[in-house]
Amino acid sequence: MRPISELLEVFHSCFHNPNPPKFFFAPARVNLIGEHIDYHGGDVMPAALDMGTLVIAAENGSNLLRLCAEDLPGISVTCPLDKLSLFRGKGWGSYQLGVAAFLSERGDSLTGMDLLFCGDIPFGAGLSSSASIEVATAVTLTGQKGSPDLAVLCQRVENEFVGLNCGIMDQYASACGKKDHAMLLNCGTLACSYVPLDLKDACLVITNTNKKRGLADSKYNERRAESEEALIRLQTVYPDRKYLCALSEEELLEAKSLFADAPILFDRAYHVVTEQARVHKAADCMARGDLTAFGELLHASNCSLRDKYEVTGDHLDALYDAICAVDGVYGTRMTGAGFGGCNVSLVKKSAVELFQEEVAARYQKATGLIPSFYLSGIGEGAREVKKEELL
Ligand code: GLA
Repeated sequence: MRPISELLEVFHSCFHNPNPPKFFFAPARVNLIGEHIDYHGGDVMPAALDMGTLVIAAENGSNLLRLCAEDLPGISVTCPLDKLSLFRGKGWGSYQLGVAAFLSERGDSLTGMDLLFCGDIPFGAGLSSSASIEVATAVTLTGQKGSPDLAVLCQRVENEFVGLNCGIMDQYASACGKKDHAMLLNCGTLACSYVPLDLKDACLVITNTNKKRGLADSKYNERRAESEEALIRLQTVYPDRKYLCALSEEELLEAKSLFADAPILFDRAYHVVTEQARVHKAADCMARGDLTAFGELLHASNCSLRDKYEVTGDHLDALYDAICAVDGVYGTRMTGAGFGGCNVSLVKKSAVELFQEEVAARYQKATGLIPSFYLSGIGEGAREVKKEELL
């Protein structure tokens, strides 16, 4: 992130607003394990990162919301507070204006504001840049810190205003993350506990394939529809199961004949059911401090996402192979929706430097792209921040 003095200059040159600004921050997230199961009522294990979206905001005395992005010069959106719904599905501004529309729909009274969006989350890289923008907007417009209620409202924005049928994981992690902890979040009930992340001799390394994708035009909605179709078939045998994650692997295997004409739907369900079991094992491993077993689960998760759910693609596969060929790695997997974006690896601290060199060389040789590495810490959820904290 650029120094705050420079960001304030950008704010003033965008808006010429004389009122003293306030600052709000919502983090990106990394999902450690539990991929593509949040929309099946699953338990997932994400953590909020230190990187995120910072909003510099001040009232402007009008009925207008005015938005600019520090890293998207030339983009500015202005919308009267009584015309918010016109921005449904309209690109960058729809995340923020959707949040404003839904807040006002639930009865919050909004005032005209100028908002500059700044951030250091790579866009479209599987680290929840969009959830971070939504949640940052929600804490800015309400003046409250992140909460489960705001997370749910932001998820509705993404589903109904932006057009991506995502689950609750990203918005919840951004709103309610806790420093140095992962979350064990049940996406059906929103029961959440925090798991201390004691990584001993290791650290998390996030590697970006630098293969971009837009989720709304990826196969995300298609995968969700396929796995929901699998659930509908399974409910003919298990009518009491509301979610795929409520089935065990044995129960799924017993019902395999339901999928004789559609083996792909069986594979989608198989990923979901086994991924759920891996999350529970991973939570046990973390509690016991068994990083070796935790790492094995990361590998198994990646292979299931690659082979059964088919959400990796050439670039994530090349990166996975590159990382597997390097020493000092407990485990590694794609993180987020997939189809490009990032991978998360648990790497011995002593091996991190060599990891970056060797993975970069192998991945570049395979794909022609240069990967990026992030050694972000695990941070707090969304909140107002004082200017002093940003100096
Ligand atoms: C995206 C969605 C989440 C979740 C992940 C996959 O990040 O926003 O709700 O489904 O993909 O686990």
